[in-house]
Amino acid sequence: MHNIAILASGSGSNAENIVRFFHSGHDVRVAVVLSNRSDAGVHDRMNRLGVETITLGNDIWSTHPAEVIAELQARDIELVVLAGFLRKIHPDIVTAYQGRMLNIHPSLLPAYGGKGMYGHHIHEAVIAAGERESGVTVHFVSNEMDKGRIIVQERVTISDDETPDSLEEKIHHLEYNIYPRAIAATLGIK
Ligand code: GRF
Repeated sequence: MHNIAILASGSGSNAENIVRFFHSGHDVRVAVVLSNRSDAGVHDRMNRLGVETITLGNDIWSTHPAEVIAELQARDIELVVLAGFLRKIHPDIVTAYQGRMLNIHPSLLPAYGGKGMYGHHIHEAVIAAGERESGVTVHFVSNEMDKGRIIVQERVTISDDETPDSLEEKIHHLEYNIYPRAIAATLGIK
């Protein structure tokens, strides 16, 4: 059995999709979801699915990384999966899970990555720039935000009447398709 942890700050629709994908017959278990926000939607989604969630405050993430690592080690976590986690990962955590921590980003990195580029801001910037395509990137987490080695990237076409909302929806669907597969591939599961 492969134990994975998900880190999420928001609604958690990717987290839910990952749990549903793996808990229907794969040798992968989402052992815990760690969040920095007690009011994040991901808690309700995980409660309904029977997955443990823990909130660790922002001060823990920035100044007590050993507490985060202890929670992961206590559950024998093999892979850490960021799904809408809106904090920079402390270098000690990056080192502890080097090559074992993934993130999904809703653009074609390196375009539209880095500070301030999250959620709706990305889709607004992409549309404002008149881009003809956008997409999703799954990459390893490194100490430079959104710059770790890319595992997989997939594209969507932007239509003439695209809005940030419609682009976000398209991209979410793409994410639900590629993230579980990228996680399985990283774990070495066919
Ligand atoms: C996704 O678009 C993901 O790419 C980004 O944050 C968003 C999280 O959405 N990192 P959700 O909370 O999984 O619905």
